Amino acid sequence: QSPCGPIIHGLEDVLIKSTSISDIDGEKGILWYRGYRIEDLARHSTYEEVAYLILYGKLPNKKELEDFTNRLKTYRDLNSATIEIIKNLSKAHPMFAIESAVAAEGAFDEDNLKLAEALKVGRYKAEEKELAYRVAEKLIAKMPTIVAYHYRFSRGLDIIRPRRDLSHAANFLYMMFGKDPDPLATKGIELYLILHADHEVPASTFTAHVVASTLSDMYSAVAAAVAALKGPLHGGANEMAVRGYLEIGDPSKAKEVVEAATKPGGPKLMGVGHRVYKAYDPRAKIFKEFSREYVTKFGDPKKIFAVASAIEQEILNHPYFQQRRLFPNVDFWSGIAFYYMGIPYEYFTPIFAVSRVVGWVAHILEYWENNRIFRPRACYVGPHDLQYIPIEQR
Ligand code: SDX
Repeated sequence: QSPCGPIIHGLEDVLIKSTSISDIDGEKGILWYRGYRIEDLARHSTYEEVAYLILYGKLPNKKELEDFTNRLKTYRDLNSATIEIIKNLSKAHPMFAIESAVAAEGAFDEDNLKLAEALKVGRYKAEEKELAYRVAEKLIAKMPTIVAYHYRFSRGLDIIRPRRDLSHAANFLYMMFGKDPDPLATKGIELYLILHADHEVPASTFTAHVVASTLSDMYSAVAAAVAALKGPLHGGANEMAVRGYLEIGDPSKAKEVVEAATKPGGPKLMGVGHRVYKAYDPRAKIFKEFSREYVTKFGDPKKIFAVASAIEQEILNHPYFQQRRLFPNVDFWSGIAFYYMGIPYEYFTPIFAVSRVVGWVAHILEYWENNRIFRPRACYVGPHDLQYIPIEQR
């Protein structure tokens, strides 16, 4: 409460627009993309098909999917200046490099610049729609390349150019590791990309809206969304969750770790809790089963699945978490298979961005249809009309 009225801390439950891209039932733990449940899409679909669904609002027929997939393949590589920037940031955490690379690529992409110029009249008009969708598709196609190129440079390796005979997921693994990926690893990446593709308006997507609402360019709005996703309370939780499991090291320590998180000011358990889900995150359920399948096949030598399972049991049976309706969220289980695939944990959030970029651009395109600049208020509680005192008298 404030002298001006109620402050909505963290904009909890504040509606910023209508959307038909995704819906979340937080009470029951259900997620839909354009009306399809994610369980069905995870079981039957591919990232390309889900990206088309999210971007264009319907499942594609064979020709639409083939044309879309081929367009993405032609957009995969990067401007040479962007590659230099990624190389110069090879020692930085990948999320810094991605933020900069997306902004840089947008500074060179002629479609992005043409669209930005058209928006300078202060309106997004119907004749810009085709150009805007092309820019959106380029961002979807280029994000995996940015992440993979940084991985190669960070290890002092040569970059591996994208191939056009591989799917989005398989090509990403190929650009990372330079060999045709194992089918289960490709299935894991495909699953990960499908399940992170959109999630209504979390902090990163909201950030994309705010930047896009000033009619700044689409690449800059996505670069800003990457900056928001980096935070440990949002996308960065998947990296911190696995780092936590590795540090804990043994399932018998789960109880004390969970207890510590219940103390006032104690560390938050990464991968636990959600602003909207007051039930088990449906994405986490799918990742739990996939990581179980993965460690069953390849083993759990670092006991990270075992530690995560022990923590989950402690949480589900602990009054602190039960009273606050805190459950595992998407980040609790998603990193385990990745870690065993040899993906360093600092690349978990970057891969989240590889997936979520379609949600970001789809929401920008949806918002531009009925654009209004975001400009909230703050309640001023300081003094007014103070007299200026010269420094000699202070
Ligand atoms: C993602 O929004 C999205 O949709 C995001 C996402 C997406 O797909 O885009 O789903 C992806 O970001 C998932 C969330 C990943 N982040 C984490 O796992 C970090 C740990 N989680 C918490 O920081 C927290 O739960 C948030 C950030 C996810 C939600 O924050 P809220 O809604 O502001 O909740 P809160 O901080 O007000 O917590 C309410 C209470 C507090 O206790 P009290 O002050 O009432 O005593 O629950 C406690 C919190 O201290 N709490 C936790 C906790 N999460 C909340 N206590 C211990 N460990 C936790 N993880």
